[in-house]
Amino acid sequence: MEIEIQSMEKRDRYLLMTNIVVPRPIAWVTTMGADGTLNAAPFSFFNVMSTTPPVLGLCVDGWKDTVRHITETREYVINIVPEEMAEAMNITAIEFPPGESELPHAGLTACPSRKIRVPGISQSPIHIECRYRDMIKLAADGAESHWVMGDVVHVHIDDAIWEDGRIRYDRLKPLGRLGGSWYTRVGEETLLRMKRIPYSDWKEGKVSTRPSG
Ligand SMILES: Cc1cc2nc3c(=O)[nH]c(=O)nc-3n(C[C@H](O)[C@H](O)[C@H](O)COP(=O)(O)O)c2cc1C
Repeated sequence: MEIEIQSMEKRDRYLLMTNIVVPRPIAWVTTMGADGTLNAAPFSFFNVMSTTPPVLGLCVDGWKDTVRHITETREYVINIVPEEMAEAMNITAIEFPPGESELPHAGLTACPSRKIRVPGISQSPIHIECRYRDMIKLAADGAESHWVMGDVVHVHIDDAIWEDGRIRYDRLKPLGRLGGSWYTRVGEETLLRMKRIPYSDWKEGKVSTRPSG
């Protein structure tokens, strides 16, 4: 199958691109409107942009409440979605009218942040407090996407999922986004461990390339 992506219809291109770049992490973003309304929405066009400086990026299609709030108040929290919060996360993706908070609809509560005014979601075990840094607009065919970059100013991790200086993925069980309506889970049985190979070890042929569970 060879696909001429440039000549595709918008919707088909969206389906193709979100079907082939998988699995994607989900940023469950809390923002605050100028009137104090708390907003929550998921974004899977999301990743680490840099660790020095610590910057996370997410892409908002159109001028949604999330990007409007971020550019107005310049603060937001990226909450990580555990599998058990999948349904609540999906409820927050409903297009509620501006000024109506998604949190009570999804049975969620807010918890105060340490360095910023915008709160996180209590039911998420990882809260990443961000300050707006920059935005890149990508425009074509009358559509506009907004790549929002934010400096990470504080991170909160629930002690229950943190052990010996690392995240216990089997306890966090982060939800991953696939194409269409599909998601994927991470659990003890799906974990795979594979160390990076130093060139010197490779040259001497003393490495095992086999992943371990
Ligand atoms: C798992 C998931 C991932 C999503 N990822 C994105 C995304 O990366 N970019 C985007 O613009 N919308 C994305 N959406 C749709 C938004 O969450 C949805 O439009 C939401 O209503 C936006 O909320 P807001 O208007 O309060 O900002 C996603 C929805 C779901 C369920």
